[in-house]
Amino acid sequence: MAGVVQGADGEKMPLGRRIFKRAFVYLLDKKTDAFFRVLRRRNPVLVMAKANLVLVTRFHDVEACLANSDVFKVGYGPRIDAAVGCFMLGNDNAENAQHKAALLRLLSRHDSQRIRDIVTDASVEKLSGIGNRTAVDMVSDYSRYIPMQLVKRYFGFTQATNDELLSWSRAMQHDIFHNRDSETHIHQRSVTAGQAIRVSIRTEIARRKKQEAAASDDILARLLRCQNEEGNGFDDESVVTDLAGLLVGAIETTSFSLVNILQELLARPDVMLMAREAAAANRDALLHKLCRELLRLRPMNALLIRQCAEDYAMVGVNNKTVTIPAGSRVLLCTGSAMKDEDVVAEPNQFRLDRPDGHYFIYGSGSHLCLGDKIADIMLVEMIKPLLLLRHIEPLKQPDFDTGPFPEHYLLALSR
Ligand code: HEM
Repeated sequence: MAGVVQGADGEKMPLGRRIFKRAFVYLLDKKTDAFFRVLRRRNPVLVMAKANLVLVTRFHDVEACLANSDVFKVGYGPRIDAAVGCFMLGNDNAENAQHKAALLRLLSRHDSQRIRDIVTDASVEKLSGIGNRTAVDMVSDYSRYIPMQLVKRYFGFTQATNDELLSWSRAMQHDIFHNRDSETHIHQRSVTAGQAIRVSIRTEIARRKKQEAAASDDILARLLRCQNEEGNGFDDESVVTDLAGLLVGAIETTSFSLVNILQELLARPDVMLMAREAAAANRDALLHKLCRELLRLRPMNALLIRQCAEDYAMVGVNNKTVTIPAGSRVLLCTGSAMKDEDVVAEPNQFRLDRPDGHYFIYGSGSHLCLGDKIADIMLVEMIKPLLLLRHIEPLKQPDFDTGPFPEHYLLALSR
């Protein structure tokens, strides 16, 4: 879970606080749903003044805080800036919002078929050798590989190898969103990755600028074409930052989400049957709803981190006012909000009739995921060929190898 309790590398912490921190992290990581359920009932806005930390767990509170970026500001800036430069998720200024809108226009909805084709090509390639009970590591051989192909063919990363792209994206995701103790070596790895990626993109830009303007139509080419339009803010360095930011956003998030969807599907034979029928009938809209509901039950990310800019009053249990102090680090527990029994009917049941507004899988408010539509297409197209196989069976639970991301997930696949 993202950098929730701070304490810089090597910092000495009193024993009592160390024990408290361990217990807190255990509850948050290992007993997430039960912990959130208790908090929603007993202490929905939990203020831990000594740790300078606040947890917000109820649906309407999480929604309100995410909508209020004047008070609840993103705090990823220093880590993002150090890796890729001044990217939209780094802070809440109007310039970033404008830039996001311009970038969104370039990630055109008309690209849906193209995205599908890229994912299909990559999944066919990866599944071509499947025979009877072939063991496949879904992470290294599928869920990371496919978004990486999108990064190369749709975003326009042509200068880097697969291994480079994966290690850069993982290093930066780790530091920006999961470096909970601000460990120096994790931060340094991200800075080094950011430097390498920026060199690679600058080389690509220089190469593109020597080419015919119409030579390619990926996101990088579109960004460069936009430079000729006045006032859009896409100078070379911002193009470098945007492309690097897209890489960070795309790979581990999609990979992690696919692993979670598969885990939930494999634990629910009735839903698996429904999904197989939907895949056979090419019912993409149904498959999308199904993936989204499975991700609500097991989200890739159960909380979003914000910094509170001013004292902020909220309503706690028995209508008592709880004040979030200015300067607190606030964990907006979207994983809890999506299971808030006061708003979400039968929150632990799989249901396809929920309103769109009950899902925070891609966040909410001004930092709503830039790639949500792309990710939706990818997830459906990645899961479909697996559902069309004769048999899928888990061989082991996902292995995180002490890190924040699934590194291996061994399944037996039969054609
Ligand atoms: C299933 C896959 C994905 C999931 C679950 C996911 C989730 C999220 C979430 C929860 C946020 C909000 C972070 C916050 O408010 O603190 C976010 C932001 C973002 N995502 Fe995604 N994401 C996914 C795929 C992608 C892809 C494919 C891209 C690239 C096209 C992308 C690019 C971004 C960017 C650039 C932001 C920052 C937006 C902003 O600051 O306004 N994501 N994502």
